[in-house]
Amino acid sequence: MKIGFFGAGKMAEGILSAISDKRSVIMAERLPDRAAELAAKYGVATTGDVKEVAKKATLLFLAVKPQDVDGVAAEVKPLLKQGQTLVSIVAGKTLARLRSAFGAKPGLVRVMPNLALRANAGMCAICATPKTPKSAVAAVEAILGGAGATVVLKERDFDAVTALSGSGPAYFAYMEEAMAEGGMKLGLKPDVARLLAEQTMYGTAKFLRESGMALRPFIDGVCTKGGTTAAGMKKLAKPAFKKIVADTLAAAAARSRELA
Ligand SMILES: NC(=O)c1ccc[n+]([C@@H]2O[C@H](COP(=O)([O-])OP(=O)(O)OC[C@H]3O[C@@H](n4cnc5c(N)ncnc54)[C@H](OP(=O)(O)O)[C@@H]3O)[C@@H](O)[C@H]2O)c1
Repeated sequence: MKIGFFGAGKMAEGILSAISDKRSVIMAERLPDRAAELAAKYGVATTGDVKEVAKKATLLFLAVKPQDVDGVAAEVKPLLKQGQTLVSIVAGKTLARLRSAFGAKPGLVRVMPNLALRANAGMCAICATPKTPKSAVAAVEAILGGAGATVVLKERDFDAVTALSGSGPAYFAYMEEAMAEGGMKLGLKPDVARLLAEQTMYGTAKFLRESGMALRPFIDGVCTKGGTTAAGMKKLAKPAFKKIVADTLAAAAARSRELA
């Protein structure tokens, strides 16, 4: 299957790195230096013309910024055929909006990735129109599964997904910053405090994923009565903390709805 990209930016490169047969890929990128960089690094075919990708590929990743979608659609819509599938990773663009921009012919898949895709540890939520061939959805799942975890959901869940895993990297980085700053107040050097905070987040997530342990027994297990973690948790585990997190996600979801 020939795989095409409209736009070869940061997220496109994250997806590209997970495609095993790079010879099957053609990427349209309007920055010639960027196209040359990816051609040299991965051996992929590149072009400055989105129409060439629309003519040659079956699975078409739409990986431009939201404001560039209509420009791409205007150029490629007349060329798209049944049997092709457009896979949009563009934040906020609904399947209905994509259908009106790209016409009735291609299958449509909408993906909400996050930037951890660039470290092969992304979280991608996937939804598709009912008529999109199951084989095309499976192909998208297989590709994105090589760059992290995937989940197939209904589109109505996408504002929540955008709020949680889409925006989540910023929230975790903020938590890491708060932990590092707390460590610095206790006398640690900035680089050491950051390493300790980051490795602790990374290692905890890895352990929880690998062990499959439920969160409450894990937290209770670390909080030995009278110990250091219990003393810290007494400050953190306040209803106000979970309310701030819930309000944060609700605000992001509301903004996602506004942008759709
Ligand atoms: N970054 C994230 O964490 C994240 C998370 C979820 C979803 N997304 C979505 O992923 C999409 C891509 O984001 P990104 O960060 O990878 O963007 P990016 O780095 O700006 O990449 C987009 C690339 O496409 C090029 N381009 C735009 N229009 C083109 C056209 N008509 N023909 C050929 N090339 C064209 C752009 O060139 P110019 O630089 O000249 O414009 C740019 O190099 C966005 O829609 C975003 O909503 C991103």
